[in-house]
Amino acid sequence: MNLISKMLVAPAAVLALWAVTAQAATNDEIAERLKPVGEVCVMGEECKGVEAVAASAGGGARTADDIVAKNCSACHSAGVLGAPKIGDTAAWQARASNGVDGLLANAIAGINAMPPKGTCGDCSDDELRAAIEKMSGL
Ligand code: HEC
Repeated sequence: MNLISKMLVAPAAVLALWAVTAQAATNDEIAERLKPVGEVCVMGEECKGVEAVAASAGGGARTADDIVAKNCSACHSAGVLGAPKIGDTAAWQARASNGVDGLLANAIAGINAMPPKGTCGDCSDDELRAAIEKMSGL
């Protein structure tokens, strides 16, 4: 092989190698672009990402138990400052002359030592109602 052809073969090999890598990169990019935007979740099958969506939707996933444990039990489990105790349905019943609606209204506004919304400032009315029903058994 003379010098001229050596000089031609080397760059040709480099060029071929480059073409292969470039192609691979392109395939990856295409695969990336073809990825579905969303995921379809079928009921009964595990679906990753759902929890993340629920969490980012603004805490919609918290239960009445979560709220009671985090915001209400500090006073309502021991009956601090005369708070009706969790599970003491009679004590709650005595206050519920206007039903759970009346309890809810006072819980939202606050009453005496009971702070407005029971310190759960971002609780919806429905969440507070669920917490009250949970604690009172009404
Ligand atoms: C800082 C203590 C404290 C926390 C925290 C607290 N409560 Fe209370 N709660 C009280 C006290 C004290 C009363 C009794 C007030 C009174 O009648 O003098 C009360 C009473 C209530 C009543 C009865 C209102 C009525 O009409 O008699 C409801 C309903 C209630 N709380 C719901 C909640 C809920 C729901 C939470 C949690 C989201 C909560 N509370 C958190 C102290 C607290």
